[in-house]
Amino acid sequence: MTSISDKRNKKKIEHIAIIMDGNGRWAKSRGLPRIFGHRAGVKSVERTVRAAKELDIPYISLYAFSTENWKRPKIEIVGLMGLFRYYIKAKIDEICKEEARMRFAGNIKGLPEDIQRIIEDTEDRTKCYDKRQLIICLNYGGRQEIIDAVNSIIEDGTSAPITEDILREHLYLNDVPDPDLIIRTSGELRLSNFWLWQSSYSEFYFTNKYWPDFGKEDLEQAISAYYGRDRRYGKA
Ligand code: FPP
Repeated sequence: MTSISDKRNKKKIEHIAIIMDGNGRWAKSRGLPRIFGHRAGVKSVERTVRAAKELDIPYISLYAFSTENWKRPKIEIVGLMGLFRYYIKAKIDEICKEEARMRFAGNIKGLPEDIQRIIEDTEDRTKCYDKRQLIICLNYGGRQEIIDAVNSIIEDGTSAPITEDILREHLYLNDVPDPDLIIRTSGELRLSNFWLWQSSYSEFYFTNKYWPDFGKEDLEQAISAYYGRDRRYGKA
């Protein structure tokens, strides 16, 4: 059997993006409030980030809170914001030890002020690391990102014609490679406004597992499926 590292010689996977779905159903199936699903989801984040390091994946991005998630009940939003605070603060030392750069994508100014400060501090403390990046998409929406890019091009006074390269330069994290692989858990088969521009040629992997049940083996299976694909980028 070909191992993941053998397959890597064929074409290297750089960026894996994950839509972490199914926390609410995971909790419901256990008769628990939804926030318990999100808490279990944090453990899954930790497992997956560790696994990605072991599997030598340089970029991992996680869809943690979308621009549409504000429509959820207030109690759930407050609980989620509490988890983001806790996770970022509690993990910063560990992330520094592992020499990973932690970055955030989204409308950060729309988040509570203390979270904005935590984000600034975390990005600042980890910006010296260049081996691996963990990207948390918070208050992120793909359409909003494209609108923000267009507005920033206008503010720069750039005149037409606007090219693909110009638009890309104005995205939130313009130096991050497009995701090679996008994983979505919980059996839903949608992109849900995630990395709209960047996902043009991404491969997709869907699993029925709820996010809190996702682990290293699942990540390996997704990577294996990716290496079995033929990426032609429009060529014959
Ligand atoms: C989707 O499941 C999940 C979310 C909107 C939140 C994801 C957040 C975490 C995993 C918590 C921590 C993350 C970080 C990066 C610290 P859902 O609630 O829509 O599930 P459902 O479809 O079953 O209701």
